[in-house]
Amino acid sequence: MRFIRTFPIIIGLSILFGLAFSGLAVLPAFTPSVTKPSPGLVAYSPSELRGRHIYVREGCVYCHSQQVRNVAADSGMVDAFGASKAGDYYYDQPHLLGTMRQGPDLSNEGRIWRKDIGEPAREYLIGHFINPRNYNPMSIMPAYDYLSKEELSDLTDYIQSLGIWKEQVGQISSQVDSKEAS
Ligand code: HEC
Repeated sequence: MRFIRTFPIIIGLSILFGLAFSGLAVLPAFTPSVTKPSPGLVAYSPSELRGRHIYVREGCVYCHSQQVRNVAADSGMVDAFGASKAGDYYYDQPHLLGTMRQGPDLSNEGRIWRKDIGEPAREYLIGHFINPRNYNPMSIMPAYDYLSKEELSDLTDYIQSLGIWKEQVGQISSQVDSKEAS
C-alpha cells in the first residue's frame, strides 16, 4: 500500500527534475552563442595565455575586476575607456569579470602600461608585482616575489594585453603621463 502511494510521487519528482535539468543545463549547453568578438579583439598570444593562467591561479580576481559598467560609480572609466561589452570577453574562458575592487579595475590596464612605452612599463609592472609597497607604501596588494622570471614576464604580457586592442597602438594617452608623474 505504502509503495503504491509513494511511487507516483517519486515518478513525479523525477520528471520534474528531468525537465528542470534539461531546461537549465542541457539545453543552454547546446544553444549556439550569439556573441561575436568585439571589433579589433585579438585572441591571446601563448605568453599572454600563460600569464592569464597565473592570474587565475594567484587569485588576482579576488581583488581586481575586469568590467566597466554603465553606472554612475564607473562614469570616470566609461568616459576614459567606454563601457565593457559582451564581445570583449569572447576569448575569456573562464571569464574574469570579478566582483571585488580592493584594487583598480584592470580591464584597460594595457592602455595605461602600454607595450609601446617599452621597458619602463614592463619594469614598473614587474617591480610592482614583486613588491607593491615599493611604489605605493599603503598598498594591500600581496607581494608576488615568489614567481619566477618567466612567470612575471608572462603575467606582464597578459596585463599589457588588457584593453589595448580597443585602440590603435601608437597614440600615448594622457593617462600614462599622470600615472608616471604620481
Ligand atoms: C589583496 C588584494 C589584491 C590582490 C590579491 C591583488 N591585487 Fe593588484 N592591487 C591591489 C591594490 C589595493 C592596488 C592599488 C595599490 C597599488 O598600486 O599597489 C593594486 C594594483 C594593481 C595594479 C595597478 C598598478 C598600477 O600602478 O597601475 C595591477 C596591474 C595589479 N594590481 C595587478 C595584480 C595582479 C596581476 C594580481 C595577481 C597576481 C593582483 N594584482 C593581486 C590589490 C590586490
